[in-house]
Amino acid sequence: MSSRYAAAWRSHACGELRAAHAGERVTLAGWVANRRRHASAHFVDLRDRWGLVQLIADEESSAAVREALDALHPEDVVRVEGVVRHRGEGLVNPERPTGEIEVVVEAVEVLSRAERVPFEIQDELDVPEELRLEHRYLDLRRRPMQERLALRSRMNQAIRSALHAEEFLEVETPMLTRSTPEGARDYLVPSRVKPGAFYALPQSPQLFKQLCMVGGLDRYFQIARCMRDEDLRADRQPEFTQLDLEMSFVAEEDVLGVVERVMAAVFREVLGRELELPLPRLSYAEAMRRFASDKPDLRIPLEVVDLGGAPGEPGPAARLGFGVFDTVLAEGGLVRGMRLPGGASLSRKEITSLEQAARDAGAGGAAWAKVTAEGTTGPLSRFLGGAAGAAFLEALEAAPGDLVVAVADRPRRALTALDAVRRRAGELLGLVAAEDRLLWVTEFPLFEEGDEGEWVPAHHPFTSPVLEDVPALEAGDFARVRSRAYDLVWNGVELGSGSIRIHDRDLQETVFRALGLPPEEARRKFSFLLDAFRYGAPPHGGFAVGLDRLAMLLAGAESIREVIAFPKTASGGCLLTGAPAPVDDSQLAELRIRALEPRT
Ligand code: AMO
Repeated sequence: MSSRYAAAWRSHACGELRAAHAGERVTLAGWVANRRRHASAHFVDLRDRWGLVQLIADEESSAAVREALDALHPEDVVRVEGVVRHRGEGLVNPERPTGEIEVVVEAVEVLSRAERVPFEIQDELDVPEELRLEHRYLDLRRRPMQERLALRSRMNQAIRSALHAEEFLEVETPMLTRSTPEGARDYLVPSRVKPGAFYALPQSPQLFKQLCMVGGLDRYFQIARCMRDEDLRADRQPEFTQLDLEMSFVAEEDVLGVVERVMAAVFREVLGRELELPLPRLSYAEAMRRFASDKPDLRIPLEVVDLGGAPGEPGPAARLGFGVFDTVLAEGGLVRGMRLPGGASLSRKEITSLEQAARDAGAGGAAWAKVTAEGTTGPLSRFLGGAAGAAFLEALEAAPGDLVVAVADRPRRALTALDAVRRRAGELLGLVAAEDRLLWVTEFPLFEEGDEGEWVPAHHPFTSPVLEDVPALEAGDFARVRSRAYDLVWNGVELGSGSIRIHDRDLQETVFRALGLPPEEARRKFSFLLDAFRYGAPPHGGFAVGLDRLAMLLAGAESIREVIAFPKTASGGCLLTGAPAPVDDSQLAELRIRALEPRT
């Protein structure tokens, strides 16, 4: 049987051999996974991307072959010639796809000797991640890494087919460009030809894809690399990949529809599962109110309750006589909480970890009480006696056996902390449902209040406001302006975001002004976009899915580093190449750059 894996150095792949190949003469090439001896028989497992196969030399083999097998080390690259045969009775290994056969070796050629490897190439590995990253080429030999990268490749394939079927064009956009405002710092590349001038690496292809629409391409997509100099976390890398798309003559429904169909194709091709469409939707306002998050994890059946009330309509938290709540409310903050069913059984340590989750999110902490048939215990219980206390517990629908938790802080911090407490509580109480939960969050606000009370775009500044909110925008009533932006969320992870864009020059300038971007600065930075809008811009909108995150969730991995072939560490370094690294003075001189002393 000829093999699709046949190549100059081999006739078959190690992992493809089956009982049907018995009797065939084969040439295999791969890595020595391990070597062992049983009495007079010499065994070697040979590995390639398609699996492991057992090689054998026994007393009938030549002494030269037996010696050659004996002299192999783990990870040597070898080529062997031999004959496939059934394993003897009782020797079949049902765990392994090639387990019914073995290859009786007749010739061995070492193609490349391996030194002792810093860690064994095995599926389960208990070594520091740094070691894996430093020797990523070895880590990549492990089956779980190969499977995750294969999954990612199938994901890309499914995306491309689904979009081509809908007449999208795959278009590449520049890597050396001008700054694109996606809210992070730019990576800059100095120009040699124009000393003192810099390219920026794209934070996303946002402006180019809009220009593709002005260019009449109608439906664009790209599997695009994006570079952002930002603080890293498990689901963030300084360079990452987006499925970036943009469409002309569309409204929200059209974009959401395409993204849903792409997601369904990915689920089908990668997981072999049907994704139920349409995906559920929540408005941003509802998501924030019920789950304190714009990326709620709907697998957790806990909801947040407002306890502070509104000005003039004090809620139950305002009547407890608890100074912390009163102060926060007087300063315009929020008091919100939730009931954790069965939470009274949590240990002190577990409750401390809830408080810590709130503190890690920037809040002062979380107030709590255990509810029992006899009353309440815990720090908040002091304030929960009497009718006011009963009203507080009733608002939370608390019952004996529950833990009630409340967070009081400035609005943003309180919500972030509540989200963190909700997620932590879900884990502690084992409430995270097994089924995946995807949803759309729609109608994001156009602006968010920054930490200093300034207004910053919640998305990027090319996002269209909801048209009926334009008068509020012009009047400077920014808190009321909704945008036409939407996010896709999977199990509490923001998978992607997009919007219907502004295609009108005047509205774009109004938004720039509202953002405090003076007309001259807007012109200097984005004149190419504003100019393009002068020559006929179609209404358009689009989306970008974070493909590292999508692959992570599809693979059930804990971090996006597990689905990236050569990722960076949390401090943005590449342990394999040592990047970022100093460069020669001559390179700097050519660029007319002098490095300052490092910051101490
Ligand atoms: P946004 O900035 O929301 O939108 O990015 C879209 C998606 O990209 C992923 N993502 C990241 N993944 C890994 N590491 C990072 N540092 C990182 N930053 C973002 C997330 C995110 O949801 N131009 C707009 C899209 C549009 O409006 O069409 C944009 O880039 O999954």
